[in-house]
Amino acid sequence: MAENTEKNLGYAFAAESKAAVRNDAFAKKAESDGYPQIARLFSAISDAESVHARRYLRLMRGKIGSTEENIETAFQNEIKANVEEYPKLIKDASDEGKESALNAFSQSRDVESRHAELYKKAMNDMLADRHTVYYVCQVCGYVSEDAAPDNCPVCGAVKAKFKLVE
Ligand SMILES: [Fe+2]
Ligand SMILES: [Fe+2]
Repeated sequence: MAENTEKNLGYAFAAESKAAVRNDAFAKKAESDGYPQIARLFSAISDAESVHARRYLRLMRGKIGSTEENIETAFQNEIKANVEEYPKLIKDASDEGKESALNAFSQSRDVESRHAELYKKAMNDMLADRHTVYYVCQVCGYVSEDAAPDNCPVCGAVKAKFKLVE
């Protein structure tokens, strides 16, 4: 019985995570369609689904460790996405001639190695007294330190497409 619950926590975590991102995308669409109140509702529900997802993740055995362990886990996940997972998705998109998906998968694969690099750096100077702010490309997910580049090195997006995370 406990095993079912463990599995169900994983299922609920995945479902709520997806709902959070989907509602956030719906919010952006409502905003651009000129429905600001509907956009706020989608954003609020998206945030609520994130609350659910984090709650389940915390209840799952061994999913959140010490910060040192979490950086290592995050680093390994980026490497795995870069060398194992995205290459398969890229191959299928390429075989099937799905250009937009191919472009998205390829850029994500490239960006994952950048994410890994940032984690590696963080592992090496976890205790350093450093305050770095990050800028995230809203097209491809590339992360830049301290300043947004004029153009994204992975997808070419202009500076205005970068979101500050501090
Ligand atoms: Fe990543
Ligand atoms: Fe980008």
